[in-house]
Amino acid sequence: MPGTLPHTPTADLPPDSPQPHLFRFWSSLSDDEKRALVAQVESINLNEIGTLWQSAPAESDAALADKASAPSSLIPATIRTDDPQRFAQAEATGWQALAEGRVGAILVAGGEGTRLGFPHPKGQYPIGPVSKKSLFQWLAEQLLAVSQRAGVPIPYYIMTSDATHEETVAFFREHHYFGLNADHVRFFRQGNMPAVDQKSGHLLLGEKHRVAVSPDGHGGLLAAFDRAGLFDDVLQRGVEYLFYHQVDNPLARVCDPAFIGFHRLHNAEVSTKIVAKEDPAEKVGLLVEVDGRHRIIEYIDVPPHIAQQTDQSGKLRLRCGNIAVHLFNATFLQRVARENGGLPYHRSSKPVPYVDESGTLAQPTSSNAFKFEKFIFDILPATERALAMEIVRDDEFVPLKNREGQFSPDHVRSAMRQLHTRWLRNAGWTTEQELPVEIPPAAALCEADFLNPRVPPAR
Ligand code: UTP
Repeated sequence: MPGTLPHTPTADLPPDSPQPHLFRFWSSLSDDEKRALVAQVESINLNEIGTLWQSAPAESDAALADKASAPSSLIPATIRTDDPQRFAQAEATGWQALAEGRVGAILVAGGEGTRLGFPHPKGQYPIGPVSKKSLFQWLAEQLLAVSQRAGVPIPYYIMTSDATHEETVAFFREHHYFGLNADHVRFFRQGNMPAVDQKSGHLLLGEKHRVAVSPDGHGGLLAAFDRAGLFDDVLQRGVEYLFYHQVDNPLARVCDPAFIGFHRLHNAEVSTKIVAKEDPAEKVGLLVEVDGRHRIIEYIDVPPHIAQQTDQSGKLRLRCGNIAVHLFNATFLQRVARENGGLPYHRSSKPVPYVDESGTLAQPTSSNAFKFEKFIFDILPATERALAMEIVRDDEFVPLKNREGQFSPDHVRSAMRQLHTRWLRNAGWTTEQELPVEIPPAAALCEADFLNPRVPPAR
């Protein structure tokens, strides 16, 4: 047992613990609360937390940035026009994989969405510029449209957390899974990690009888997927490829056939969609190649003089911005989940509310604690068979992150409206007026689709 407490507690006496402050309010707790607190503290690996608290931030990333190059296997965004034949081949290959039932989708929706401050899971945010459809609905409708064209169900694996699980499941039920067949929608819950006081390394109480915890990051996906037995589900269904996306980006092209096709044609184990970074100061993780392997370096770890370097064409040397859309071979995900000891934790400073000595909930406005999270992109260096595909930012990337400003609801809705207005104009619509417009996924999944609605599945 990770943090087994040496003594059985009694009604009067709390257990002995290396962190006695956790039992400070023992005498005021009910029996159920006492039991819950002891069970929670026992489930926490205090040694691991201690090591993580002391761990230095990953300073090696700055050195990595120095020897990093742009990914050598990169499909450029211009491929559709530069080499229409190759693009068509990839698209047909992708539809083929879909029609064979080889594709599943993973949606990660366990984040707390603290920056947005919406009092429900972020996926419930009403993002449709006209319809006010939720992010969940917008993404589910895309999956439904692809599945209908492919002629097969596509399993949807939705990761939740303690912070989002109940509401998310209820929301899908209430909305009849947005037309998806409930047999093919599987929810699974990610793990938690405690937050610790930055200075002392002590766990914090979120309530008098509960240690403050938060979801263990989108990289918690691997262990959670395994724990829920979903690799077996994938195997039984004959699924080979898992399309990974995040709940905040309504423009992510769910199960994009061309992306799947290029991945299959390149015999890749992992593929990543990227956007061209133009501003060296832009806060986006960079997809790079180091020693023949892809990896993501966080923008904060790229020193300005490296971020500003340009190549012969005058473009940024390291310019592949990660948009958190991947395609994984299911066998690859399973291998890393089981054999490589999983993914590492990253430590970050955050303001975390806690119950102070007087029993009052303190709400710090600056960072007082460390949180520990795993990142899904740490899986990339585990293979040499990786591919990158560049996409056009305005077409596929506008994540909902903040309450105001960039990536706020206004920004995201306006980007969706502008994109769909462009489709209409390219189809011959001449009005100059800025009208509220929205083209639902059932009508078209991309511009080519909108201009030529007969794009057939390769069956
Ligand atoms: P972010 O890192 O942007 O976090 O998540 P967030 O929770 O949405 O927002 P902030 O940082 O608290 O403001 C990117 C994606 O990863 C998922 C989120 O749900 C989102 O789809 N995620 C994040 C998880 O599924 N679990 C986590 O523990 C963290």
